[in-house]
Amino acid sequence: MDAALIERLTREMEAQFARPGEPAGFPKFHDISVDRYITDEFYELERKHLWSKVWVMAGRAEDVPNPGDYFTFGDLKVPIVVVRGNDMKVRAFYNTCQHRGAPVVRDKVGCANQLRCQYHGWVYSIDNGNLVSIPDERDFIDFCREDKSLSAISCDVWQGWVFVNQDPNAASLQEWFGVPFAQMEELAGEELRAVGPRSMTIPCNWKVTAEAFFEVYHFKFIHDRGGWSALDNRGATMGLFPNGCSRMVTPFSKKAVEMRGMKDWSDFQKFSDPRFIDIPSVNNLIRSTSTAFSLFPNLIAPVASYGYPFLMFWPIDKKTTRLDWVHYAPKNWEGDELPPHWQQRMDEFDHIMDEDKRNMAPMQESLESPAMKGIVVNYQERRIWNFHEQVDRMIGIENIPEHMRVQQLLAPYIERE
Ligand code: FES
Ligand SMILES: [Fe+2]
Repeated sequence: MDAALIERLTREMEAQFARPGEPAGFPKFHDISVDRYITDEFYELERKHLWSKVWVMAGRAEDVPNPGDYFTFGDLKVPIVVVRGNDMKVRAFYNTCQHRGAPVVRDKVGCANQLRCQYHGWVYSIDNGNLVSIPDERDFIDFCREDKSLSAISCDVWQGWVFVNQDPNAASLQEWFGVPFAQMEELAGEELRAVGPRSMTIPCNWKVTAEAFFEVYHFKFIHDRGGWSALDNRGATMGLFPNGCSRMVTPFSKKAVEMRGMKDWSDFQKFSDPRFIDIPSVNNLIRSTSTAFSLFPNLIAPVASYGYPFLMFWPIDKKTTRLDWVHYAPKNWEGDELPPHWQQRMDEFDHIMDEDKRNMAPMQESLESPAMKGIVVNYQERRIWNFHEQVDRMIGIENIPEHMRVQQLLAPYIERE
């Protein structure tokens, strides 16, 4: 974030505190159809058109440090293998042998000079997926090896994070996430290491889980700390980015401001806890607010100067979601055991996640109840709307039954830098 952006965000938060209602001319949102959360039809539309075309985070480049290192990835519900080539480039292929469809590699992680299918030994190149050799080739009549390469899928690395996309015509990773990536650059992801992965399965649609992280309207109620809240949602400013991505910056509450010895919420300071290793490039606005980015469709990053989590939502079926989160930290300890300050930090975060989770299963039940007429989204929840607009654009608006669509309203409010 440059100085101009920090200044603009500060002015925006001021304006949010001061506004008597929503800004003049801001569109009214209609209720969102519950059928987007509960029907097989919408779930199948998402599977077919959305999950097959989005960039999702599959792992970290340091998990495949050397040529031939690979890991498998199944969260898109298709078997994928990510492998580093001899040229050090990280690539992804469908982990599907072109002989009779066995998984080429079965281990979650491994290292191999070539990818040899464990079933009958067909051998593929780690550099391009080409079929290099097959046992008993004489038994295949008119066989053309060139036709039987492993299918490659789009794969790119940003700041150490490996992203994959099944769509061969997808925009590049940089193009797709250009605006949030530029603002997240200073978070120095490349130098961080994954710590303390967590996972929970929640009986609700994946969008219910995602939406809990798009607003802070709920914050003082759900995350109350015995009569006080750490954040003041009335000052929160929402940045709506292209492709359904967004950013939220929320000022500290009066009490949190006092506790930190700030003059007011905009007295951004270079706080750093001496127990943690600091990421020095992180600006003071991030240090003195709650700032989070979302990368469409399923990644949320509430960022901080000592490390931060990535949260990801993976639909298991229309009413079951796996919510994974993992922290990235400037790590200076050996092994998996966490130092006490990180353990404490993670326990606190887990507690917040539990608070958020508590509503999700009962909400799904309500969405399926005749009592629920439609989802109401207000002005400060507009990141939710931005997200849903992108869901529809991915599916193709014409493919969605009219009553399930959300109106495309927010184009004039999208920040392109
Ligand atoms: S299925 Fe892979 S070699 Fe036969
Ligand atoms: Fe929350």
